[in-house]
Amino acid sequence: MKQNLFDNPDFFRDFQHNRLSGESENDLIEQPALRSCLPPLKGLKVLDLGCGGGQFARYCMDQGALAVTGVDLSKNMLEYAHTHNDLAGITYIHGALEDIELPTNYYDLIVSSLVMDYVRDYESVVKKITQALSDRGYFVYSTLHPHITARKLVEGWVRDEKGNKHYWPLDNYLEDGRREMYLVKDQKATFYHRSMSTAVNTLIKAGLMLHEIIEPTCTPEGLLRQPHQISEIRRPTFLILKTQKVYLTKE
Ligand SMILES: C[S@@+](CC[C@H](N)C(=O)[O-])C[C@H]1O[C@@H](n2cnc3c(N)ncnc32)[C@H](O)[C@@H]1O
Repeated sequence: MKQNLFDNPDFFRDFQHNRLSGESENDLIEQPALRSCLPPLKGLKVLDLGCGGGQFARYCMDQGALAVTGVDLSKNMLEYAHTHNDLAGITYIHGALEDIELPTNYYDLIVSSLVMDYVRDYESVVKKITQALSDRGYFVYSTLHPHITARKLVEGWVRDEKGNKHYWPLDNYLEDGRREMYLVKDQKATFYHRSMSTAVNTLIKAGLMLHEIIEPTCTPEGLLRQPHQISEIRRPTFLILKTQKVYLTKE
C-alpha cells in the first residue's frame, strides 16, 4: 500500500498553505533550478510524475509544450490541479507512478519534482521511465539531497545554546532504505533514502546519460525575502539530476 500523505486533510492543508504561499522552498530554491536545466519546451510531449497541483504542467504549456500528462496519487492534489491548472493540452491521471502503464518510446521529457523520495522501488521506476522516453528524451528529477535523508529519523540542524544553526549532522549515509521525517509540523512521513551513487548509477544502468547535477541554493530575490535561506550554502536541501536517453537499453 502506497503512502498517500496528501489525502490526509490536515497534511494537505498544511502542505498547501506553505506550497501556495509563494515563499516555499519549491518557489525559492527547487523550481528555479529545475526549470533552468530543462530543454526548450516548445512542441514537447511532457510527463509530470507526481504533478501535485499542476503548477508545473501549466508552466510547460505556457512555454509552448505540445501536451502534458500529469500523474498523481492524491485526489486532493488532482482536484486542485483540475480547478486551478486545467488548460487545453493537459491531462491529469490519478494513480501511483509505480503502477501506471506508460507508452513506450513516447515522451520527449519526463519530469518528477520532489516525488522520488516517496518511491521504494526506484530501480524499476527508472527502468519504466527510460522505456517511456523517446530516443534522446530527457528525464529530469528533483529530490531531497541524500545528506538530508540519510539519518534514520531525519531531524534538522544541531543548534548552539542561542538557537543558531551549528552544523548539519550526517549518519547512515551509505545505508539506503526507509526513513522517517516530520515533513509538516508534527506529521511524520516515510521516505526512501538513497546515496548519491545509488541515485546516479541506477540512472546510468537504465540507459540514461547524466547531463547535469544541481545542488541549488536560494535565488537572490528569494534571499531578500527569506534571508534565513542563506544556510542553503552550508548544505543544500535539494538535488536535481538531468539525464537523457542516449541509446536503447538491452533487457
Ligand atoms: C512534495 S509534493 C510535490 C508536488 C509537485 N511536484 C510540486 O512541485 O508541487 C509530492 C507529490 O507527489 C505525489 N506522490 C507521492 N507518492 C506518489 C506516488 N507513488 N505516485 C504518484 N504520486 C505520488 C503526492 O501526492 C504529491 O502530490
